[in-house]
Amino acid sequence: MPGRGRFFRQNEYAGTLKSEHSLIITPPAIGRTIPEIRENTACFAAGSWRVRMGRSAADGCFSNIFTLRRLGFEARFRAQKPTGRLSMSTDVMDIGAVPAAWTRRHLLDLESLSAEEINIILDSAVTFKQATSNCARKIPILAGRTCANLFFEPSTRTRTSFSLAARRLGADTIDFSSSSSSLSKGETFIDTAKNIEAMGIDAVVVRHRTPGAAQLLAENLDCSVINAGDGAHEHPTQGLLDILSIRERRGRIEGLTVALVGDIAHSRTARSNIWGLKKLGAHVIVCGPSTLVSKHWEALGVEVAYDLDKILPRCDVLNLLRIQFERQTTRPFPSVREYALLYAMNQERLARAKRDILILAPGPINRGVEITPDVADGPHSAILEQVTNGLAVRMAVLWLILGSTSQPST
Ligand code: CP
Repeated sequence: MPGRGRFFRQNEYAGTLKSEHSLIITPPAIGRTIPEIRENTACFAAGSWRVRMGRSAADGCFSNIFTLRRLGFEARFRAQKPTGRLSMSTDVMDIGAVPAAWTRRHLLDLESLSAEEINIILDSAVTFKQATSNCARKIPILAGRTCANLFFEPSTRTRTSFSLAARRLGADTIDFSSSSSSLSKGETFIDTAKNIEAMGIDAVVVRHRTPGAAQLLAENLDCSVINAGDGAHEHPTQGLLDILSIRERRGRIEGLTVALVGDIAHSRTARSNIWGLKKLGAHVIVCGPSTLVSKHWEALGVEVAYDLDKILPRCDVLNLLRIQFERQTTRPFPSVREYALLYAMNQERLARAKRDILILAPGPINRGVEITPDVADGPHSAILEQVTNGLAVRMAVLWLILGSTSQPST
């Protein structure tokens, strides 16, 4: 049961659990005032608590979510605008235990995750971002574990960041490349994966052009499986890092209008975004040429639109998806130039959008097709923040899946 006592190990802030119903956050010893903090108090209600405070105080809180959980609280932090600034050194950081509510052995999609599970990943990502100075430092809590990257499709961001995330957590990594493997000698996908697993692997991160490939491995391997993109089905960590980037900039997901623009038909990123955003309460619009956006998407609870200029004034966030020519069997529009005229985010459209519109793109971006260079590199764009958040999300996912001493169930 919660009782009176210090629960911060070593940082700028001290907190005291005074009773079951209140948490007093003591401002920094240097006496800096924190105007945003409401009476220095966070309220507990019905077993859960929510803190509203300035980011200075938040820095001291992020790291203690798991400590609070160990003390018996349902603790969740909703960051308004995390700084990404390190407030303590990694060797005194108290990451704590994997939350009891996390019971998964694999991460295959966002469709099957609850809002609570998605928030556990996002909150953990924030913790890791804080603990590792914006993902730049090591926190070796997965030492002795080994992760294998099995990529059967090209990748820059996902492959590199999974590799780096594992190493930042102290795990060993191996990178498998299909082009230089024995697949060319007739070895099957499952046999290849089983042989890699036989080398003492704890988790495989798999990307494959076939939808369901990650699920297939989960059914055939004993180790954990993380989906890094299976055809046009899902790309769960991309969805999570997009959502984290929105939450960081806008402070919330609930109530926002998020438009996914472009090649919806072939986009695994669109599917993962839809599942994740809908579960967290966003209104989602899918927008693009009718050859790439079917009316059937409405069955997922999203709005379907074909005219970007009509929906633009309502949008809080635009996520500009690449036209995936490599997955298309027919030409979906007469020319790239025509597509850019109708759907590219440029300065002229920016001028007609909400003043604080947030522009995301999962990458790789095609400058001049879905986005003009000035918008891609401008202040509304969070494209490179997405990449940093990808590292944080992947650290969180690896930790949640491999960091538990007990065996998760699913
Ligand atoms: N967004 C994304 O998945 O990028 P990569 O293909 O480079 O991994």
